[in-house]
Amino acid sequence: MTGPRVLIAYATKYGTTKKIAEEIQGVLTDKGIESDLINVMETGKMGTYDAVILGSPVYMGKMLVEAREFCKYFRHNMTDTWLAIFVNGISCCTPGNVDTAPLFAAIDEMHEYVRPDMKAAFSGAFNPTGLSETDAQIAGMVRPPVGDFRDHEAIRDWAEDLALAIFMRMP
Ligand SMILES: Cc1cc2nc3c(=O)[nH]c(=O)nc-3n(C[C@H](O)[C@H](O)[C@H](O)COP(=O)(O)O)c2cc1C
Repeated sequence: MTGPRVLIAYATKYGTTKKIAEEIQGVLTDKGIESDLINVMETGKMGTYDAVILGSPVYMGKMLVEAREFCKYFRHNMTDTWLAIFVNGISCCTPGNVDTAPLFAAIDEMHEYVRPDMKAAFSGAFNPTGLSETDAQIAGMVRPPVGDFRDHEAIRDWAEDLALAIFMRMP
């Protein structure tokens, strides 16, 4: 790999965050930035990267446990690494509610371990079929809006900002 070494690590339960991560990777590739796209569960011993982009869905107000553990476990590896974190959820998708503050709050919880240089909160997707028993029970009580609410323009715009920021600090 030539140019900056970039890791896109994502956590996901039902695939939406992986799709967003792939979309981000596509934009970076178009801009000439190669990247490794890996599920956080498979990062093992993290190699040396110039930039790390971490993505997680928000469940019950928090990033997925494996994404939180990634921040905790690799915090010493990432002290000199440029870091961006994105989350997605559907709390901002109910009609009349576009408040992303609870999603950003999930990222800010990670300040104990890491301080991201860039962060983003996207609307996600919710499909009631195929949920785990526990998730189905919770969803049955909360009755979240059903659908794919991803805003592809917002994702691509942020990915372009990421590309610019990564280029700016290229060694
Ligand atoms: C049990 C359950 C709890 C959820 N809790 C939240 C939440 O607290 N805030 C939010 O914005 N979205 C919440 N969501 C929606 C997910 O974040 C959303 O579906 C996300 O796009 C899923 O990403 P994934 O497929 O990568 O796991 C919840 C969904 C389920 C099924």
